[in-house]
Parts: sequence; C-alpha cells; structure tokens
Amino acid sequence: MPKHIFRLVSLILGLIVVAVLARPFLIADSFYRFGHYRANAVPEIAAKEPVLQTARYCQACHTERHAQWSAGSHKSVTCEVCHGPAKGHTDKNKLPVPKDSLKLCTLCHEAMPGRPSTQPQIELAKHNAGKQCITCHNPHTPKIVVATIKITGNAAAGKKRAEDCAGCHGADGNSPNDTWPNLAGQNGAYLAHILGAYKSGDQKNEIMSPLAQDLSPADVQNLSAYFASMNCKATPPAAKPIGNSAAGKVLAENCSACHGEGGAGGNPAWPKLAAQKPGYLVNVLKAFKAGLRKDPMMAGVARGLSDANMADLAAFYAAQSCQPTK
Ligand code: HEC
Ligand code: HEC
Ligand code: HEC
Ligand code: HEC
Ligand code: HEC
Ligand code: HEC
Repeated sequence: MPKHIFRLVSLILGLIVVAVLARPFLIADSFYRFGHYRANAVPEIAAKEPVLQTARYCQACHTERHAQWSAGSHKSVTCEVCHGPAKGHTDKNKLPVPKDSLKLCTLCHEAMPGRPSTQPQIELAKHNAGKQCITCHNPHTPKIVVATIKITGNAAAGKKRAEDCAGCHGADGNSPNDTWPNLAGQNGAYLAHILGAYKSGDQKNEIMSPLAQDLSPADVQNLSAYFASMNCKATPPAAKPIGNSAAGKVLAENCSACHGEGGAGGNPAWPKLAAQKPGYLVNVLKAFKAGLRKDPMMAGVARGLSDANMADLAAFYAAQSCQPTK
C-alpha cells in the first residue's frame, strides 16, 4: 500500500475512534431515546421560575382588583395579557400599567369583518368620542351594567313615609346639611337601587343602613317615586367655595357619559349630580376611591382623582342647575 494512502486511512480511522469516544460527552443519552426532545432536562425546566404566572398568583397581593376581574366580563383575559409576564415582579420587574387604553382595548374590540361575532365589538368612530376607553370602562370589570329598575310606587304614599326622612333630607327632599344628600328630583330608579343596597348591606352607612332595614319593598318604591317627583332646589353658593368650578368642568367631561351633561342625569338608574351638596359629593368620591363604597364603574373612575380634583368636581356639580324629573 502506498504510504500516503496508509496515512489517509489511519487518519480517518483515528477520527472515527475519537468521534465514537466523544459521543457520550457531546450528546445526551436521552437523544437516542427521545430524539431532539431533551427529556433529561425536564427537572431542569420545571425548576425554572415560570415566565407567565396565572391570575391566581396575583390574587393574594392585588385582592381587590382580582375580585373585580373574576366577577366581571374580562375573566377570559388574564392579567398578564394586559400587564405582561409576571416573572420577577415585585423585586426587579415593575409590571407595566398600560397607559394608552385606546391602543390596548381596540386590539381586541375594534369592529372588523373577520372578527368572530361572539367577541364584543364597537365602531370606534361612534363609540368613544376620542376618549380613552378607561374614562368610562374599568379595565378589570369593563361591562357597563345598565340596571332596569321600574318605578311603580305611589308618590302620595311615599310622602307620608318620607316624614321619617325629613330631619336629615329636608321636608321637601332638599337637605339642610352640606354633607347629607339632596333627594328631591333624583332619578327614581337610582333611589330604589341605592335604598335596596343599604337594605341588603351592599352599601353600608352607619345612619342609613339601620334605617333601610325598616323599609319594605313597597316603601322603597313609594319613597323613590315621591322624592323623584319633588323639585330640587339650587344649592346656594357657598361663602367659601369648596374647589375650583372651572377646573371641575373640564374634569366633568369624563363623567357626562354616565351622569349627563352638567350632572343632569344620563341613565335613569344612575344618580344625577347637579345641585347635589358639595360636601356630600366629596365624601362619596373619597369613599369610592378608598373602596368603602363599592361600585365597579365608579371604582375605576375615582382611582385617578386627587383630593383637589374631587373638590373641583364637587364645586362644579353643586353649582349646576337641576331639572325636576317627571
Ligand atoms: C407578592 C405580592 C405580589 C404579587 C403576587 C403580585 N404583585 Fe403586583 N404589585 C405588588 C406590589 C407590592 C406592588 C407595588 C409596587 C410599587 O408600587 O412599587 C405591585 C404593583 C403592581 C402593578 C403596578 C405597577 C406600577 O407601576 O404602579 C401592577 C400593574 C401589578 N402589580 C400587577 C400584578 C399582576 C398582573 C400580578 C399577577 C400576575 C401581580 N401584580 C402579582 C405585589 C404583588
Ligand atoms: C384588559 C386589560 C387588563 C387586564 C385583563 C387587567 N388589567 Fe390591571 N390595569 C389595566 C389598566 C388599563 C390599568 C390602568 C388604569 C386603572 O388603574 O384603572 C390597570 C391598573 C392595574 C393596577 C394599578 C396600577 C396603578 O398604577 O395603580 C394593578 C395593581 C392591576 N391593574 C392589577 C391587575 C391584576 C391583578 C389583574 C388580573 C386579576 C389585572 N390587572 C388585569 C388593564 C388590565
Ligand atoms: C386580549 C383581548 C382583549 C383586550 C386587550 C380587551 N378586551 Fe375587553 N373583552 C375581551 C373578550 C374576549 C370579552 C368577552 C368576554 C366574555 O364575554 O366572556 C371582553 C369583554 C369586554 C366588555 C364587555 C362586553 C359585554 O357586553 O359583556 C367590555 C365593555 C370590554 N371588554 C371593554 C374593554 C376595554 C375597555 C379594554 C381595554 C382596557 C378591553 N376590553 C381590553 C377581550 C379583550
Ligand atoms: C364615553 C364613555 C365611553 C368610552 C370612552 C368608551 N365606552 Fe365602551 N361603552 C360605553 C357604554 C355606556 C357602553 C354600554 C352601552 C352600549 O352597549 O352601548 C359601552 C359598551 C362597550 C362594549 C360592549 C358592546 C357590546 O356590544 O356588548 C365594548 C366592547 C366597549 N364598550 C369597548 C370600548 C372600547 C374598546 C373603548 C375605547 C376605544 C370604549 N369602549 C370607550 C361607554 C364608553
Ligand atoms: C339621621 C339622618 C338621616 C335620616 C333620618 C335619613 N337619612 Fe338618608 N342619608 C343620610 C346620610 C348621612 C346619607 C349619606 C350616606 C352616605 O354617605 O353613604 C344618606 C343617604 C341617603 C340616600 C342616598 C342618596 C344618594 O344620593 O346616594 C338615600 C336614597 C336616602 N338617604 C334616603 C333616605 C330615606 C328614604 C329616609 C327615610 C326613610 C332617610 N334617608 C332618612 C342621613 C339620613
Ligand atoms: C361608566 C359610568 C360612570 C362614569 C363614567 C362615572 N360614573 Fe359616577 N356613578 C356611576 C354609577 C353607576 C353610580 C352609582 C353607584 C352606586 O350604585 O353606588 C355612580 C355614582 C356616583 C356618585 C354618587 C352619587 C350619589 O348621589 O351618591 C358620584 C358623586 C359620582 N358618581 C361622581 C362621578 C364623577 C365625578 C365622575 C367623573 C369623574 C363619574 N361619577 C363618572 C357611573 C359612572
């Protein structure tokens, strides 16, 4: 055999031996059993911190938002869809809070032909008047629930029952006190709703809760019919205004979809704010923000209001004229 052929053959044989010997070091055993699936690495993968947690992971620390979310209509959209993966959150990773809700929400809700009709869709141009979606929708429980309470009560019967209320809400439903609400001219369906909430304990107030226990369903209906039929009176301008009404007017643009222009009433199941007592308005907004008064829609709205915002809004609404309802 010529020398150079011998060298070539031995070189090839040498390489084969090296390859065979190196094989177990370079390739995991499991490759021959499971192919590219790295079966041996399962414990290693399982030991890694998951990138995505589930919504349950958030529950312990963000109890209130989790409760809203799990009771609401976004239950199929988990927290991390909007806030990003939770890996490392609380230590180094501050989860992002979506700033531009127009962009976020339209991703899934803008009407388009290919979108399944089971997914709620809106015509952008008609729907939001250029506003951020979260001015009206709480992202954690977005459905705007329009209550359908019918007022069938008798105002004359309500008038008699209302004698018990006169001390605090005024004989004609206009309260003598800055922190107690006017009831005259308020939407009847709202009055019935809120009296029902005091009665059931959904809303709590140390004065009103016990009083509402004594009201029968017929009383609630009659009282609501009575107060809704009364004429509301303008609140006299305070010597020292509680806040800046002009600033309040600008903020109030975010409220008009539900409370009407100038607070004169939108949906009948929701309260009018026009000419309401300013001290009461401030207290209620604070209570919504603190979670003491619970309503998912108002919780979303009040979260972004500072104390100064609340005072300005109260000054604005207190100064609006209220129209008596029929
Ligand atoms: C161990 C408790 C804990 C868990 C679990 C937790 N968080 Fe948080 N989260 C916090 C704390 C504490 C803050 C406040 C941090 C701060 O203000 O500096 C926070 C802040 C946030 C913020 C606001 C960040 C900001 O910039 O204001 C978002 C959004 C958030 N968490 C979402 C989530 C989501 C979604 C989950 C579940 C996937 C979750 N968190 C799980 C404790 C937790
Ligand atoms: C549809 C998108 C969406 C989903 C789903 C969602 N969030 Fe949010 N979240 C938002 C937006 C938008 C904001 C900012 C506006 C606000 O505070 O209402 C926010 C605000 C927050 C904040 C407050 C941040 C701050 O600055 O105060 C926390 C905490 C939070 N979300 C936790 C959660 C948790 C926990 C879940 C799941 C149970 C969840 N979110 C699900 C969109 C979402
Ligand atoms: C990842 C997609 C997704 C994003 C992002 C999203 N949603 Fe939704 N949303 C859904 C789905 C899916 C439903 C229907 C859930 C169901 O009915 O079970 C829904 C339900 C709703 C509903 C209730 C409709 C009804 O009649 O029940 C409203 C309102 C809503 N979303 C508003 C918003 C707003 C506002 C935002 C932004 C803060 C947002 N969504 C972001 C997917 C999304
Ligand atoms: C000015 C207040 C306001 C703004 C801003 C607003 N919405 Fe709404 N949205 C409502 C009201 C009120 C309803 C319920 C009445 C109705 O069905 O029209 C509603 C209903 C919806 C529904 C349910 C529709 C259905 O057919 O079930 C979706 C989805 C929705 N909005 C998404 C959005 C998105 C996304 C944005 C941001 C681009 C947005 N909304 C901005 C007031 C608003
Ligand atoms: C001792 C004083 C007092 C008496 C008597 C009283 N109320 Fe009240 N009422 C209040 C106060 C204070 C509030 C505000 C509670 C709050 O901040 O949650 C209130 C709130 C209300 C509200 C909610 C108004 C709103 O705009 O949300 C209604 C409705 C109401 N009362 C009806 C009645 C009726 C009907 C009676 C008679 C059966 C009555 N009240 C008797 C003090 C009283
Ligand atoms: C998505 C609809 C919606 C928007 C937007 C909204 N509200 Fe409300 N608001 C409600 C509902 C519903 C209630 C009744 C809550 C309840 O039953 O406790 C309410 C109640 C109130 C009350 C209590 C009234 C009373 O008589 O007790 C005040 C005050 C109030 N809202 C102020 C505001 C202000 C200020 C804004 C704007 C910054 C605003 N709301 C935006 C739906 C809305």
